Amino acid sequence: MGLEFMPIFKDWAVSYDDEVEGHNPQYKDVFEGYWDIITEITNQSGNSILEFGSGTGNLTEKLLQAGKKVYPIEPSQEMRAIAQEKLKDYQVEFLDGDMENFPQAENEVDTIVSNLVFHHLNAAEKNSALAAYNKILPSGGKIIFGDTMFLSQAALDAIIEREISRGFEDLVEDLNREYYPLITDLEEIFRANNFKTTYRQMNNYVWIVIAEKI
Ligand SMILES: C[S@@+](CC[C@H](N)C(=O)[O-])C[C@H]1O[C@@H](n2cnc3c(N)ncnc32)[C@H](O)[C@@H]1O
Repeated sequence: MGLEFMPIFKDWAVSYDDEVEGHNPQYKDVFEGYWDIITEITNQSGNSILEFGSGTGNLTEKLLQAGKKVYPIEPSQEMRAIAQEKLKDYQVEFLDGDMENFPQAENEVDTIVSNLVFHHLNAAEKNSALAAYNKILPSGGKIIFGDTMFLSQAALDAIIEREISRGFEDLVEDLNREYYPLITDLEEIFRANNFKTTYRQMNNYVWIVIAEKI
């Protein structure tokens, strides 16, 4: 179901916005350029957007500031409460759901976005989620995901070795626990679900994948 990591977010919600500013040394490199990443996702998006794993609402706010209609979905009640309070001056409702089970948006969407979320789904779940998004999006519609991903298993292994040497135990546990994809594998499941992809590296961990429905 891709929800096995939810207990982490229950505790993380209150400190999450501090961490995106790089205040946790172990995650500083993951969050490097965070605001540029969500700005780039916003710039690449269309006008009517389904957002998954909206967290504390930072990407949602950027999208709304750019004048887009946003349907944010977030499984953590704690994250939703923070986001709803933060964005109380906007007309937006943070709905309960996740990347696989979610309420249908009121209007057609032309873009599906998320940042730092897709790696919570294992390979089979990623594939079935993309099959569902194919049915939602029109031809030319886009999926834009920012996430930690790696060019090769050797690149992932090298990063794990480096973080072990820096004593970053929490980060090492995270890298071994969650389903961080290789770009070659991602390319294949997007292609199998009728999307063509481009990739842009944003820091040592995070890339943005832009997938256009053929
Ligand atoms: C690292 S945070 C990213 C939050 C936000 N997107 C951002 O860029 O700041 C990951 C978020 O994904 C949510 N999440 C975890 N598993 C999920 C799933 N299967 N579907 C949707 N969201 C999920 C968590 O509750 C959390 O809010």
